Amino acid sequence: MFKKRLKLNTKCLKGFVSERDFRNILPEVEKAHAALIEKNSRGKEFLGWVDFPEEAGPEFLKKIETTGGRINSEKDAVIVIGIGGSYLGARSIIETLAPRIIGKDIFFAGYNLSGDFLNRLLSEVKDRDVNVIVISKSGTTTEPALAFRIIKDFLMRKYSAKELKSRIICVTDKEKGALKRLAEEEGYESFVIPDDIGGRFSVLTAVGLLPVASAGINIRELLDGAKAQRKYGLKSGAVKDISCRYAAIRNILYRSGKKIEILSSFDNSLHYFDEWWKQLFGESEGKNGRSIFPASCDFSTDLHSMGQLIQQGERNLFETFLVAEKNPEKCRIPTVSDDLDNLNYLAGKSVDHVNRKAYEATRKAHFDGGVPNMTVFFGGKSAFCLGQLFYFFEKAAAISGYLAGVNPFDQPGVEAYKREMFKLLGKP
Ligand code: PA5
Repeated sequence: MFKKRLKLNTKCLKGFVSERDFRNILPEVEKAHAALIEKNSRGKEFLGWVDFPEEAGPEFLKKIETTGGRINSEKDAVIVIGIGGSYLGARSIIETLAPRIIGKDIFFAGYNLSGDFLNRLLSEVKDRDVNVIVISKSGTTTEPALAFRIIKDFLMRKYSAKELKSRIICVTDKEKGALKRLAEEEGYESFVIPDDIGGRFSVLTAVGLLPVASAGINIRELLDGAKAQRKYGLKSGAVKDISCRYAAIRNILYRSGKKIEILSSFDNSLHYFDEWWKQLFGESEGKNGRSIFPASCDFSTDLHSMGQLIQQGERNLFETFLVAEKNPEKCRIPTVSDDLDNLNYLAGKSVDHVNRKAYEATRKAHFDGGVPNMTVFFGGKSAFCLGQLFYFFEKAAAISGYLAGVNPFDQPGVEAYKREMFKLLGKP
């Protein structure tokens, strides 16, 4: 298991962020950090995530492991229904780790409004046994509610009422919402999303843990990583904690006109981690007419598309690279006698070696092209390291939101499209 401490490399910020900038912003960072730890600032009613990894009790973990373990041990397909904070965290973990860990199919649904998507999903699972995990804190979000209705209707034609009951598990509020009512009335097993944890900060609660356990991934390692990161932050304090440093850098850059941050990973399996990160920062900070636009790239794929813009487009960008220090499998480059492709100079090296050089070259080229960048190094693709990364970025998003003068834990703006849509749909 990869277990190294996270590192933040800031070498390629030279000339863009100075020690003086740090000294100037430090009082604000210390204030924000104290507010978070003492839980006495904006959005304080949504700070349950700060201590949750430490407080998740043995009974709760056992229950997740029992249900998740049962689902994992069956050959049946699993459909996880949810959107936004009730979807991206679990998907990011499963996409990053599962190809090596599981031999079963996990499908996601309820994160869009495409009928074609749902039809294809149902035709894919029509001859298989299926378990469903439906996740919605409010229990009223249209996308997952609609998908659940359609998938449940399909399952009702497949199973008896008794069997159906054991195949549906709900993760929702402890007392409010349509999903809670439905779970109670139908007698589905259910898990609670704590009141004091908002969607995008909920990956380490049952929202992320249950699907992940169902995929055979070790939830204790995931939580251990988060706990280690939490402890490290508390011990380091605002001046040394890398979450605080990262939050400070983002705000210094934003104040100097860098309005877009690109999270760039050199591993396609981190694609959904980047999606989770975009939601976390976009929804936490994009308020009151100010925002760092969080974008993401999969490198080296996107070096052949977005690379041009990053190198020579408008200089309003900064970049954060997400790089694994170690990779588990070595895929070696063979020697070929005719060397028609001229690649023998790489023979014997691993593809990861080439990827590492691509990263080093990219950070230098982008820096030389006027794009300040930093790198978050993590040990490798393990549940422990993902736990560290989730906690690192959640804390950074909270501090960064406070530095930006917004409440990082609400999302009043997402209601606007819903109001318009419900008007058009004639919702009573
Ligand atoms: O971060 C958030 O609060 C949102 O992204 C929600 O997670 C998302 O809208 C889904 O909400 P719910 O879990 O209530 O269905």
